[in-house]
Amino acid sequence: MTTSFATDADVVERVLIHVRDSTTDLGEPWFEPVSNYSDAARFQAELTALRRMPTVFAPAASVVEPGNYLARETLGVPLFVSRGRDGRARVFRNSCRHRGAAMVDGQGCAQALVCNYHGWSYRLDGSIAHIPHADGFPDNIADERALVELASCEANGLIIVAGPDGDASATSTGLDAPQLLLADTLAGHRLVTTTQEELPINWKVLIEQTLEGYHIRSAHRSTFYPVQYDNLNVIEFSGMHSRVTYPYRNIERQATVSPAERRLRGYSTTVTHLFPNTIVSTFPELTLVSLIDPLAIDKSLITTFMLTTAAPNPDGEEFAPDGLSLAAEGAVEDTKMSLAVQSGFRSGANDTIVFGRNESAIGHFHRNLDDALGADDVDASTATPVQLTP
Ligand code: FES
Ligand SMILES: [Fe+2]
Repeated sequence: MTTSFATDADVVERVLIHVRDSTTDLGEPWFEPVSNYSDAARFQAELTALRRMPTVFAPAASVVEPGNYLARETLGVPLFVSRGRDGRARVFRNSCRHRGAAMVDGQGCAQALVCNYHGWSYRLDGSIAHIPHADGFPDNIADERALVELASCEANGLIIVAGPDGDASATSTGLDAPQLLLADTLAGHRLVTTTQEELPINWKVLIEQTLEGYHIRSAHRSTFYPVQYDNLNVIEFSGMHSRVTYPYRNIERQATVSPAERRLRGYSTTVTHLFPNTIVSTFPELTLVSLIDPLAIDKSLITTFMLTTAAPNPDGEEFAPDGLSLAAEGAVEDTKMSLAVQSGFRSGANDTIVFGRNESAIGHFHRNLDDALGADDVDASTATPVQLTP
C-alpha cells in the first residue's frame, strides 16, 4: 500500500493554484442511504467490522515512561496500554484474570498492575507477579493467567492495536501502515491534555464533519472563515486513509518562497483520517488526535489527545497554544451542525444524502467502509472510485 502523502511543497503549490483560480480539488459525488445511519443491523455490521481492523489506541506521548498506563474503551471494549520496563507499550484487555475485574482506570503511573479486588498483581509486561494466598489455587495458575495482550505496534508517535476482535497474530508490518502516513507529524510531541465527550451523534457524521471545507463560510463565519478559505481544499488519498488540507489565508505569502522552504504547518490545518475512526488535525502549535468510538447507532465517544512540540511554560502553568480558543469555538459550531444532521435523519425527508465533488474525502470514507463490510448492495453508479483533479 502507498503510505505517504505529497510533500509540503507540492501541496502548497496546489493550494496556490486553487487560490489563483478560485478552485478546489474535485472528485466524484457520493450518495449515502440515510438508512445507513439509522438501521440497527447496519450499525452492528459496522461495529463488527471495525473491531476486526487495526485502529489507533492512543498517541505514544500518553504513555512516555515505564509504568505509564492509559485505559480506554476501544469500540466499546475496555482495553488499556502500559509501557513496560523494556520501553515497549503493550495493549491489554482491561480485565483481571482472577474474577475479571477491570484493572486500571484513566491514566496514571504504577510500578506494577494490581487488581483492587483480591490483590492479584501483574508486572508491566502482563505476567503475574503475585497471587495472595496462592495455595488456594491450582499449581501453575500464575503461568496460565497473564493479562491478555492484543497485537499492537508503535511508530511515529502512535500506538496501533490490531482491534478488539482483530488478528492476534498480526505483525507490526500489518499494523503500521496508518502510522507511516503521519511521517514526522507526531515525532517529539508531548501530551498536554486528554478529554472525552459523549455526543448523541452517529460516529460517521462526526468523521464527515472533519473532511470537507465546503462549510467554512456558512458554519464558521466569524471563527475559521476570517482566517481560512471557503471551499478550497487539497484532498489526498493513501489506501483507505485520506488527508484534507485547509489552507490559511497567510499561505499566499508562500508564493514567493522557494519550494524547499514551503511548509504547511502554520499555513494550513491538515486533517488526516486514519481509517476507520481516527482524525489527526494540525494547528500552528498543536496537534489533536481524536478517536471516535461508536457506542450506539446515535451515540459516540470522542477521545481527544492534545499534543504539542512547544516546551512547557517554565513557571509551571499549562501551555495555552495559540489559536486554541478559536479551534474550540469552531468545534462547538461543528457539533451543532452534526446534531442538526442527526436530527434531520429522523425527518423522513431524504432517502439518501449527497456529498458533492468538493467533498470527495467523505465519499472515499464511505466507499472504503462499504468495502470493509463487504456490502453487495452498493449502487455501482454511486460507488465510482473517487478521482482527484490537481
Ligand atoms: S478479580 Fe482481580 S484479584 Fe480478584
Ligand atoms: Fe467545521
